[in-house]
Parts: sequence; structure tokens; C-alpha cells
Amino acid sequence: MQTSIDLNALRQERLKCLEWKNIKPYWEAIAGLPTVKDVTIQLGDTVVMLPSTLSTEEEQIIYDTAKLMHPWRKGPFQVATTFIDSEWKSNFKYNLLRPHFDLKDKIVGDIGCNNGYYLFRMMEDKPKRLIGFDPSALTFCQFKFLDYFIQSGITYELLGVEYVEFYEHKFDTLFCLGVLYHRPDPIGMLKSLFKGLNEGGELILDTFMIDGEEEVCLTPRDRYSKMGNIYFIPTVNALKNWCYRAGFTEIEVLDMVKTQEEEQRKTEWIHTQSLKDFLDENDQNKTVEGYPAPKRVYIKAKKLRKKS
Ligand SMILES: C[S@@+](CC[C@H](N)C(=O)[O-])C[C@H]1O[C@@H](n2cnc3c(N)ncnc32)[C@H](O)[C@@H]1O
Repeated sequence: MQTSIDLNALRQERLKCLEWKNIKPYWEAIAGLPTVKDVTIQLGDTVVMLPSTLSTEEEQIIYDTAKLMHPWRKGPFQVATTFIDSEWKSNFKYNLLRPHFDLKDKIVGDIGCNNGYYLFRMMEDKPKRLIGFDPSALTFCQFKFLDYFIQSGITYELLGVEYVEFYEHKFDTLFCLGVLYHRPDPIGMLKSLFKGLNEGGELILDTFMIDGEEEVCLTPRDRYSKMGNIYFIPTVNALKNWCYRAGFTEIEVLDMVKTQEEEQRKTEWIHTQSLKDFLDENDQNKTVEGYPAPKRVYIKAKKLRKKS
């Protein structure tokens, strides 16, 4: 069993992705962004960054840089005059979860953080540290583009969930949203998150679910909602069992929500298909493959303190 890892060597290795042919232009565009000062930040449903004075040419550079880095899945963001109308209105998920956490002075991780939308919004809670994990080079560049204006102090690790348990420190709160169904070993992933938490720490997670009381899950043969990387879609009771088996207790179901077009839709900031194309055109309760349409369950789970 592996007990430690050379994280710095791994970081160096992962950063090599910035040299990839398709990623390098993003990195160069970020380096060419105009100098900005006195940036007003608003952390509402749209994360807004308004530098004080910019020329028309500078506004254009910001727009072109953002456009270069499509698809923008998560957002929305406003950067100067550029409104990034992302595929997902991530404010729906954030606002649903908002009443269920308090991050003041906590060490917080967002695992599968994408471009950092939730992390930026979490800044309003004044946590002690905010750390995002996501192995995607594209979303890392999107984050760096946004953080050029926000200067958040957030750490973005180009690492997957499998490294959380080997991190330099433990976390008080871990978010892991929209990742579990992408993992071929969901209980292994939950165990990794459990090991990454301090005693008394909390996990907030969402994943696709199917209806029913039984402790079972759907295992798509090939694609689900046109995605090839969806492995297990549990009932709520099966998900609770996975969490128990990973060590969690006090598992609380916060909500269950069927994904609607108000939340996920095609915009000019993605070049691919979106929810409408993933559903059966004659029956919106089914995916094109005939599976139940995407529905998510949101949970909170605890790592109990050991009795002394
Ligand atoms: C469906 S998106 C969810 C994004 C965001 N957490 C949300 O809920 O809106 C899945 C994210 O997981 C990231 N991801 C893929 N493999 C991962 C892994 N092994 N560990 C952590 N994140 C991963 C992807 O890059 C992507 O940003």
C-alpha cells in the first residue's frame, strides 16, 4: 500500500502540460494580457472582475483570450466588458449548497474544481486556505486567466482526486462535485477523500442518481448522455452505502434535482452539444441511450472524531 508521494516532482511533471501544442497558445495569451489595476471584484451569481481603466484594444485582448480558451463549461464570469456565458449556470449548484456550509477559518479543498468558479465564490466566507484539484490543463488555464484579475491566493493543483490523501495537509471541508460518476472505482475515490479530511471534517458531494429504494446502481454499457466516461449511477441508498464503506457517518441528503435547460444549455462559449442534445427528443425523461435523464443527489457526510 502506498503511503506517501513526492508531490513536488509530480507537480513539475504535471506542469509540462503547459507545453502541449493545444495548451501553449492559452498560456502565451495569458502572458500577453494587459496590465490591470484597481480591479473591483463582485462574488455574486456572476463572478465579476472590473479593472479601472482599459483601452478598447485592451478590452479586445481580454475577450480574445477568453474566447481562445473555449469551451467554458462553468461560470458565469464577467471580465471587464467580456461576459463569459458558460454552458452551466454554476450559481444554481452553488446557491443550492450555500446554506449547508460555513467555511470561515477552514482549510477547504474543491476536488474537480474545473475553472475555480466555486472556489472564487467561497472566498466570501474567508476560509483559512482554498485549494483546488483538477488534472485538466484547459481548466487550469481558464483559472489562471481569471485569477490574473482576481489575485485570489487560491492554490490550483493539477492533480486528480487520487492524490488528496497524499497531500501535505488534511482538509476541514472537501467539496467533490460532479466527479464521482467519472470514476471507475467510486468507493476507492470516497476512501481517498475520507483520508484527506481532518477528524470532524465534512465532505460535500454531488453525483448522478437513479430513483428507487433499492441499494443498486446503473452501470451504462457504453455512453450515458453521450458521455463515454460515466461508470456508476447509484440510487441514494447505494450511494449512502458507498459512503459508509469509505468510513463516513452522518450522511445527510441535501437535495435531489433533475437537470433542466435553465441550468445547462448551449451558449456561444461552447462549441459542443449540451443537455438538449443528450435527451430523447420524444421523452425528456430519458437520455438518447434510453437511460433515466440526468438527476443529481447532493449530500453532506462527516468524518467523526475518534473518541479519546
Ligand atoms: C463534470 S465536471 C464538474 C466540475 C465542477 N466540480 C462542478 O460540479 O460544476 C468534472 C470535473 O472533474 C475533473 N476531473 C477529471 N478527472 C478528475 C480526477 N481524477 N480528479 C479530480 N477531478 C477530475 C474534470 O477536469 C472536470 O473539471
